[in-house]
Amino acid sequence: MDDLIRLTRDHEIAIITINNPPVNALSPAVAQGIAQAIEQAGNDESVKAVVLIGGGRTFIAGADIKEFGKITSGRVPRGPGLLPLLLRIEDSKPVVMAIHGMAFGGGLELAMAGHYRVAAANAQLGQPEVKLGIIPGAAGTQRLPRLVGVAKALEMCAEGNPISAQQALEFGLVDRLIDGDLLAGAVAFARGVAGKPAPKTRERNDKLGTLERNTPLFAAARDKARLKQRGMRSPLAAIEAVEAATKLPFEQGCEVEGKLFDECLFSDQSKALIHVFFGEREVAKIPDIPKEIAILPVNTAAVVGAGTMGGGIAMVFANAGIPVLLKDADQPALDRGLATIQKNYASSVKRGRFTQQFVDERLKLIRPILNYDNFSDVDMVVEAVFEGMAPKTQVFGELDRVCRKGAILASNTSTLNIDEIASATSRPESVIGTHFFSPANVMRLLEIVRGKSTGKEAIATCMQLSRKLGKVGVLVGNCRGFVGNRMFHHYVRESLFLVEEGAEPDYVDRALYDFGMALGPLATGDLAGLDVGWRIRKEYRHLEKPGVRQPIVGDRLCELGRFGQKTGAGWYKYDENRRAIPDPEVNELVRQWAIEAGIPQRKVSSQEIVERCIYALVNEGARILEEGIALRAVDIDIIYINGYGFPAHLGGPMWYADTVGLKNVYQRICDFHRQFGELWEPAPLLKHLVEEGKTFAEVMRQPAVVA
Ligand code: 3HC
Ligand code: NAI
Repeated sequence: MDDLIRLTRDHEIAIITINNPPVNALSPAVAQGIAQAIEQAGNDESVKAVVLIGGGRTFIAGADIKEFGKITSGRVPRGPGLLPLLLRIEDSKPVVMAIHGMAFGGGLELAMAGHYRVAAANAQLGQPEVKLGIIPGAAGTQRLPRLVGVAKALEMCAEGNPISAQQALEFGLVDRLIDGDLLAGAVAFARGVAGKPAPKTRERNDKLGTLERNTPLFAAARDKARLKQRGMRSPLAAIEAVEAATKLPFEQGCEVEGKLFDECLFSDQSKALIHVFFGEREVAKIPDIPKEIAILPVNTAAVVGAGTMGGGIAMVFANAGIPVLLKDADQPALDRGLATIQKNYASSVKRGRFTQQFVDERLKLIRPILNYDNFSDVDMVVEAVFEGMAPKTQVFGELDRVCRKGAILASNTSTLNIDEIASATSRPESVIGTHFFSPANVMRLLEIVRGKSTGKEAIATCMQLSRKLGKVGVLVGNCRGFVGNRMFHHYVRESLFLVEEGAEPDYVDRALYDFGMALGPLATGDLAGLDVGWRIRKEYRHLEKPGVRQPIVGDRLCELGRFGQKTGAGWYKYDENRRAIPDPEVNELVRQWAIEAGIPQRKVSSQEIVERCIYALVNEGARILEEGIALRAVDIDIIYINGYGFPAHLGGPMWYADTVGLKNVYQRICDFHRQFGELWEPAPLLKHLVEEGKTFAEVMRQPAVVA
C-alpha cells in the first residue's frame, strides 16, 4: 500500500481512503492497494466493518481509461481486471461504500460489490462506459439489475447517463443519504451493521424479473439504441450483457459480460471514442498559454444583435447564470428576438429539459435594450449583427468607445477576418472570435478565433468560459471560415458536384447518413437556409479562379426562391411537420441544368459519395493543420463531432482517415485529382505523412510542421 490508499481506524471500523487525484481513477495500483487494505482489515479481528471513501472531490470516476490503450496496443497484457477484487470485497466483512461526487463505471461496480452504499446528496452514480464504446467490465451489467431492476439497469448501462443520489435511493442503489459529514455518517452506518450478516449483491435475484416481463423491455431498449445511438455497437452489447444477467447464474453472466467487454474494447469504435474523450480535454490545452495565466472574470455580458444567433447566445449566458444585456438596432427586431427566446424556453419546458421556475429566473437575466447604456459595466460583449465587414467594424468602433478597458470584445462572425474587425478598435488585444453554432443554445461547439493581436488573457478567459457555458471551446486561427466552415465548404461542394453528375439529393444524403453523419449535406443546407451560402458566394465571386469547376445547382435553386425549410422547399419539399420529402421536380431540374452545362450523367455509388465528401474534409483538414489554423488533428475532430454532426464513434474526420489508412485515403485523393482536377490536389502534409508511413495521430499532440 502506498500514498494512493490509506487505511485508518475509528475504533472497530476500518476506513479505506483512496487518494488518486483528480478523480480517483481505479488504476491497477489503486485496485491493488484496495485489495491489500481489505485483506488487512479482514485479518484484523478487532475490525468489525469497513468504510471505503474517496479522498478529494469524488468517490471513483471509473477505471483508468489510459490503461485501455496500453492493453489494446499490446503494451500491457489483458489481466483479470477488477472482478477478483470485487468478489473479495463482497466476501469480506461488511463494507460500506461512502459516495460523494461521482461513482462512475468501475467506481460504481466497486460500490455495488460493497454490502451497503451511503451517499452525499450531490453524488451521481452511473455506468457511462457505452460512451467510450465499451460496456461495464467488472460485473456492472450483472449487479446493477439485481439492485435497481432490469428496466433501470438497461437504461443506465445502454445510455450511459448518471442518476442522482436521490434517484439511486429510490431505486435501491443507495441505502441512505447522508446530510453533513459523509465519513462520520458512513462510520455511524457501519457501526449499525457491524457484526451482522452482510447482504451480497450477486446473491440477490428478486429484482431480475421474468422472461415474460423482460422480453419487451429488451426489445424496446434495442429499438431505442438503434435509433438514438445509431451505428454504435456498445449499447447493443450492454443490453446483451444485462439480458445475460436475467437468464444466467451470476458467474456465467460475468463470462458473457467479459466476452462482450473484450469485443468492444478492441473495436475501432472504442478506440475512436476514447480518442474523443481525451481529445475534448486536450483541446483546452494551448501550448503557448501557461496554466497560471490570469483569467479575466466574466460576471456580466452583453450581446449585440438579437437575431438567430444573438438570441441563442444570450440564452447561453443566462443559462450559465450570467446576466446579459441584449441589444438590437430597433424595437421590432428586439421584440422578434425576445419572442424567439421565449418560444425556445417554452419548448424546453414542454420537453422537460427545464422547469418553468428555471426559465423564469433565466429570462430575468436577459435585459433587452436599444442603446449602449450600461455597456461600460460588462466584462464581455459578443457581437452577432449581420455578416458584413461594414456593420461589424461600425459596432466594434462603438464598443471601443463605450466598453471599459480590459473587457473582452468578441465577434460571432462565421467567415470574416478578426484582425480587420479588431482594427476598428484601439485595443486589438481584447478582440477575439467566439464562433457559436446554430442553434447556439443547443450546439456544444465554440470555435474561439485568435487574431494576430489577441491577448493570451483573452484567449485563456474564453477557453475557460466555454466550459462554464457548457461548450467545448476549440482555439482556431484566423482564416476565411476558420476550421469548421472552411472544411465544410469542400464537403458541400463535392455533394453538389455529385448531384450534378447524376446522384439524386436524397441518395447523396442517405449515403452520408448511413456513414453516420447526423444529417446529409443537402438536408443541412435546407435547414440552415440555402440563401446564406448563396449570399456568401456572390460576395466572394471575384475570388473564384477562372476555369476551375464551381457547382451551379445551388445558385439555380436559390434563383427559384427555394431557400430550404424557411420557404417550405429547397433540395426537398417540406410538409407541415417540416418532414423532408424528395422532390422529383428538383431532381428533373438538376438533371436538365447539368446536361445544359455539359456535365456527363452517370450512376454514382454510395461509396464514391462517402469518399468524395469525407476525403474532401480530410484533405482540407490536412492543409489547415499545415497552416497551423488548427493546433492538432484532434482539434479538427472535436470541431467536427460537436459542430457538424460527424459520428463520434468514427473519431472525427482526421482520426477516421487514420483508421482507413492514410495511404488508402491519399491514393483515392490522387485518383480524384486525376479525374476532377486541381480542386483535389493532395495536401502536402498528407503526402508527407504517407511517405513517412505516419498517421495524423502521430502529429496530433503538437502543432503540425511540415519538413
Ligand atoms: N481515467 C483516467 N483519467 C480520467 C478519468 C478516468 N476514468 N476520468 C477523468 N480523467 C482525467 C481527465 O482526462 C482529466 O485529465 P486532465 O486534467 O489531464 O485533462 C482529469 O481526469 C479531470 O477530468 P475532467 O476534466 O473531465 O473533470 P470534470 O470534473 O469535468 O469531469 C468526470 C469529471 C465527469 C468524471 C469526467 O472526467 C468523466 O466523465 N470521466 C470518465 C468517466 C468514465 O467514463 N468512467 C468509466 C471508465 S471505463 C470503466 O470504468 C470500465 C469498467 O467498467 C471496467
Ligand atoms: P440575423 O440576421 O438573424 O440577426 C442579426 C441581428 O442583428 C438582427 O436582429 C439585426 O436587427 C441586428 N443588428 C444589425 N445591426 C445592428 C447594430 N448595429 N446594432 C444592434 N443590432 C444590429 O443574423 P444571424 O444569423 O443571427 O447572424 C449573426 C452573426 O452570426 C453573423 O455574423 C453570422 O455570420 C454569424 N453566424 C450565423 C450562424 C447561423 O447559422 N445563422 C451560425 C454561426 C455564426
